[in-house]
This record gives sequence, structure tokens and C-alpha cells, in this order.
Amino acid sequence: FKVPHPVNEPVKSYAPGSPERKELQQTYQDLKSQQLDVPMYIGSEEVRSGNKLPLTMPHDHQHVLGYFHEGDANHVTQAIEAALAAREQWANMPWQSRAAIFLKAAELLAGPWRARLNAATMLGQSKNAYQAEIDSACEMIDFLRFNAKFMTEIYAQQPESSPGIWNRLEHRPLEGFVFALTPFNFTAIAGNLPAAPAMMGNVVVWKPAYTQIYAAQFLMQLFRAAGLPDGVINLIYVDGPVAGDIIFSHRQFAGIHFTGSTVVFNSIWKTIGNNLHLYRGYPRIVGETGGKDFIVAHPSAIAKEVATGITRGAFEYQGQKCSAASRAYIPANLWPEVKQAIVDDLETFKMGSPEDFGNFINAVIDEKSFNKISKYIGSAKNDPEVEVIAGGNYDKSVGYFIEPTVLLVKDPAYVTMCEEIFGPVITIYVYEESQFEEMLEIVNTTSPYALTGSIFSRDRYAIDLATSKLLHAAGNFYINDKPTGAVVGQQPFGGARSSGTNDKAGSVFNLIRWTSTRTIKETF
Ligand code: NAD
Ligand code: ALA
Repeated sequence: FKVPHPVNEPVKSYAPGSPERKELQQTYQDLKSQQLDVPMYIGSEEVRSGNKLPLTMPHDHQHVLGYFHEGDANHVTQAIEAALAAREQWANMPWQSRAAIFLKAAELLAGPWRARLNAATMLGQSKNAYQAEIDSACEMIDFLRFNAKFMTEIYAQQPESSPGIWNRLEHRPLEGFVFALTPFNFTAIAGNLPAAPAMMGNVVVWKPAYTQIYAAQFLMQLFRAAGLPDGVINLIYVDGPVAGDIIFSHRQFAGIHFTGSTVVFNSIWKTIGNNLHLYRGYPRIVGETGGKDFIVAHPSAIAKEVATGITRGAFEYQGQKCSAASRAYIPANLWPEVKQAIVDDLETFKMGSPEDFGNFINAVIDEKSFNKISKYIGSAKNDPEVEVIAGGNYDKSVGYFIEPTVLLVKDPAYVTMCEEIFGPVITIYVYEESQFEEMLEIVNTTSPYALTGSIFSRDRYAIDLATSKLLHAAGNFYINDKPTGAVVGQQPFGGARSSGTNDKAGSVFNLIRWTSTRTIKETF
């Protein structure tokens, strides 16, 4: 029960003049200059429906990177059939062989495929090179390596036996197929959602967000290059509700591995509940959803550290991380220094295309997001109760650019303190130093989400108080650090309340959901 000991993939720095920077820049330009024809992958086939839709760059929305072939209901059915046809052979393959395929994918990605996946994420999702390196190549490699180890831990779980009796556990794949429904914002999450169930012997239908297809196709090609047999993962580009109609009413639907918004997950959960009579068993429902992630500073905190936590935690990838800080509670004694440090830091943030490695801020994902985020900012700008500390401008003439925006409010229940905006906006509330404990209660009750959160403090009593008062307010809780950037194998990731089922991506807790264990008692 041993696989190569997993290590987190070292993050490359892409320093000016470095070979990795040259390779990434070249790959970016090569891909940008082509117009790819992007098929679906169903069974052994590359499927071209002929209904071609453009893949554009968020930071230059007139630039077409290629065209993907959109599928319809028939393609969903074909993908399910291809998955079910592959099921028996895949489920019966020795686990070592399954692990070997995904470990090979990790090694390919650590080597020749790295630049392609990172460049695709930069181009298609407008993510800067450093964030692409962390959230695409490195995290995907980590998911694959660590999941291979977690797999062995699950298979090693065996009960006690006694003389004359041998008890054992058979960790079977689920009976049917798994649906992986993935969001636009993290390439590695998009790859892990189909890969984790597949590693455990399941067959998968995978539907990414349309704004993620450009990178998703490379992940699919990577899995195939590593030897993944036909039909184990089937990648389709179909409208969500169209896919859902067929998948959630299929008798062999055995589980969903979802990451995306709370509203979509809620509707999926209800559909599955209503359709229970159609299925063979109770489907596994694993979903990581939205967040309204917080930073709380105690009066003892170091102002500069708090400010850096805010600017990095809120504005990496334009705030489009489920984990992004989007509300902060700062004591009055620290506020002048924190405010100045935020303003100073933001002055160094350049905004533009990820092609220029000096741009920390790139575009938000699409026009719909741009409109939603700018509407929140516009309302705040018109509200006399709100002060705009930084940013507040936006422009979609070339790309969907929104300045990192910091709002200061007088009401800790102001709308931007409660709702997930999913963009480069953080709202700050300044509290009286003596009100720290009351503040924690407000943090705990202001939003329905419970994904990530941070406490900054040098006072151990305050840290312990926050840790206990905010027990259920965050699935990932950070002490003296920003609330983003969980590392596979180090900080298993997931939230509770309206943030999901908390099945901890990048840990054994997630992988175990993709098994249905049989207990065998043999009497001699
Ligand atoms: P989304 O919910 O809009 O889409 C997620 C997936 O569901 C996409 O593939 C989409 O096409 C599909 N979909 C949408 N409506 C559907 C429907 N009615 N039926 C079936 N499928 C449907 O999410 P998004 O905009 O791609 O991603 C952003 C959201 O994801 C944010 O809310 C963010 O917080 C969340 N997120 C959470 C985590 C986490 O780990 N908790 C990680 C990343 C993103
Ligand atoms: N790994 C991502 C983060 O923690 C979700 O920001």
C-alpha cells in the first residue's frame, strides 16, 4: 500500500530572464496566435458537433482563441453511455494501475505540459502567471500526487479479524457514473473534480463552465497522454440545465462532484431529492460552493500584516476566488495605519493583460460578472453612507477590467458585507477596540457562508476567543495569514453552512466519498 511519497510541487518564480519565464511567454504567444478547434471527448472519439462557439480572452474580448463544439442532449446521453461502457474494465483495473496513470499525468504536468496549462489559464481565464502557476499546474500536480497516497490510506483501512474468521473491507467504486460539474475560476479544481472519483475506479461525465473550456481541453489531453483509457472521463460542453435534465434523471446517476455557486448547488440538490425514486441508490452529493470570507483584526495586530492580508487576500485573481477576503473588521486604533498601508500597496498593483508579467490585476471573467460587480460598486459610490477608499472605476471597452476597490461602511450589515460579489471588492467596517467580542458575533452571523476567514492578532487570548466564537464561521480558518492559498496535503479545503458539504478537497475525506465499501466476513 505504498505509492511514491508525495511532495508539493515547488512553485516556479518566473523571474525576469529565467528559462521558465521565456518558455511560458513563448507558449502564451504560440497559443494566442492560433485559433484552436476544440472538440468534446466522448469515449474514444473527439466529437465535433459543428455548433461552434468562440472562446475569447477576458482581457481582450475581441480576440478569439478558438472555437469549441457545443453539444446537446444527445451528447450528454452519449457521454453517459461511453462512461458506463468503460466502467467494468476500469473498476476492475488494479488500483496501482489507476494510480500510475494519474501519477504519470502529474509528472507530465510538472515537465512538458506545465507551460501549456499555465498559458491556457492566463489566456482563457485572465489569470496572471504566478497565480496560474499556483492554481493550475502546481495544485493539479499536488491533487494527483496526494490523492494517490490518500487512495492507499483508504485501501489500507481494514477491520480486525479473529481465529477462524477473516473480516475485510472492499472499497468499491460507486455503482453507476459520477457527474463532475466544474467552475471557471480554478483550473486545478476543474481537473480534480473528475480525476478524484476516477482514481477511485469511477467513470465520469465532466462538464466545465464555458469560460473554463480552453484550459479544460488541455487537462483532458493530459489525462489521455498519461494513458487514461477511453470513456473513463468524458468531457462535454453542454448548457448546464440541458446536461442536468438528462443526468439527474438517469437511473445510473451515482454522484455529483460539484464546485460552483451556492444557488446552482441548491437547485441541483433539490432536483436530486425530487428524483430519488429514479435512481438505484442515494447519490453522493459533494459540493463546494460560495463564500463571503472575512478578515478580523484584533487591536493587538500588526497593521502592515493586516493590510497585506487584505490586499493579497481580496485581490489575487481579481477577487474571483471562493476563498477571497471580501469583508474586513478593523479596530479603530489600527485603522489609520491599515488604511494608509492598503492605499500604498494598491498603488503598486498594475492592471492589464497577463501577457505583461508585471500586471498583478487582470480582467474579470466575462461581461455578466463585470456587470454584476460594477453594479455593486456603482450603488456603493452613490450611497452617502459608503466611502470609497481605493479604486471604484471599471471599463469593459477592451477587456473586463475593474479596479481593486475598497469600501468603508458604517453598517456592518451593509449589502456588500453580506453577499458574495465574486470580484475585486472588499468592504471594511471599523469597530471600537473594546467591542472585539461583539464584533466576532457580527462576523459569525452576518453572512450565510462559512468558507474561509482570518484572525490577525498578537494576543493569544484573542486568538483563542476568535477560534472558539467563530467555530462554524469558516471551514478554513487562518491565524495571522490571508484566507486564500490553501495547499493540497497541508490545508485540506472546504467550507460548511452555505459554502458546501465540507468534504475537504485535497484530503482523504474527499476521496473516501467516491467509494461504497462492502464488508466481507469469511468463516473458515
Ligand atoms: P456556477 O455555479 O455559475 O457554475 C458552476 C458549474 O455549474 C458550471 O459548469 C456551470 O455551467 C454549471 N451550471 C450552472 N447552472 C447550472 C444548472 N442550472 N444546472 C446544471 N449546471 C449548471 O459557478 P462559477 O461562476 O463557474 O464559479 C464561481 C462560484 O464557484 C462562486 O460562487 C465561488 O465561490 C464558487 N467556488 C467555490 C469553491 C469552493 O471550493 N468552495 C471553489 C471555486 C469556486
Ligand atoms: N486553493 C484555493 C484557495 O485556498 C481554493 O484559495
